Amino acid sequence: MKRVKLTAILILVLAFAAAGLALAQDDNMVINSKALGQHTRPLVKFPHAKHSDKLADCTTCHHDFAPNGNRGSSEGQFCSDCHSAQPTAKNSVSLVMAFHKQCKECHRYAAGKGQPAGPVMCGDCHVIGAAAAPPDKK
Ligand code: HEC
Ligand code: HEC
Ligand code: HEC
Ligand code: HEC
Repeated sequence: MKRVKLTAILILVLAFAAAGLALAQDDNMVINSKALGQHTRPLVKFPHAKHSDKLADCTTCHHDFAPNGNRGSSEGQFCSDCHSAQPTAKNSVSLVMAFHKQCKECHRYAAGKGQPAGPVMCGDCHVIGAAAAPPDKK
């Protein structure tokens, strides 16, 4: 009897641990970079799972650029780990520019091919009242 209870508890603990892991990479994120300080526009919702499941490889967005120009992976890092609020000598692409360029270029490209595409207008990403600030992570 005692053994059965312990097994049941163990299964429960493992189930919660698995759920925790699945949440580590939110299916639907709200992008809120600390490096940008107080935001002036409504926060942007980003359906990560929808993008990462079939739209692109991880490294299309989570890239790194070696000095020789080779593209590597920066999976697990935040964009703000390499892109600062202001351009630097090491990285000429500011954080806002990095997001805007990556998001909008791909949406324009898809729209140009007549395929389903994401938003390119300010108010369609910075949607008023759409997203409450999540707890700070970075
Ligand atoms: C495809 C989605 C998208 C579109 C379209 C878009 N933005 Fe953004 N914008 C973002 C994302 C993502 C960030 C990064 C937010 C962060 O890192 O916290 C951002 C950041 C910003 C920031 C800095 C953060 C802040 O709120 O002060 C400003 C200002 C901004 N955008 C203005 C604009 C304006 C103006 C337009 C239209 C010309 C626009 N954006 C269009 C996605 C978008
Ligand atoms: C269309 C672009 C795109 C694709 C494709 C993509 N990601 Fe992301 N991912 C993002 C953005 C944007 C963020 C938010 C980064 C930030 O806030 O600085 C993010 C965040 C993350 C995070 C951090 C989550 C957190 O909050 O701690 C992980 C982990 C991650 N992605 C893993 C992956 C993996 C694994 C894949 C491939 C299966 C993938 N991503 C594909 C754009 C993408
Ligand atoms: C490990 C560091 C690193 C991370 C993390 C990183 N980048 Fe970059 N990114 C770079 C470097 C280096 C360049 C080249 C900068 C230059 O040309 O001065 C670059 C260039 C870019 C460019 C311009 C070139 C192009 O591909 O269009 C965009 C846009 C961009 N990054 C967006 C992002 C976004 C969005 C994220 C987060 C999902 C991100 N980056 C995460 C290092 C990084
Ligand atoms: C590699 C290409 C690519 C990149 C990079 C990309 N998107 Fe998208 N996005 C798409 C495509 C394609 C769709 C249309 C998907 C569909 O409707 O099936 C889309 C759809 C969306 C939608 C609408 C989702 C819905 O359910 O209607 C939002 C919001 C969005 N993207 C936000 C962003 C933001 C914010 C970024 C940058 C952090 C970004 N996307 C980066 C390709 C991209």
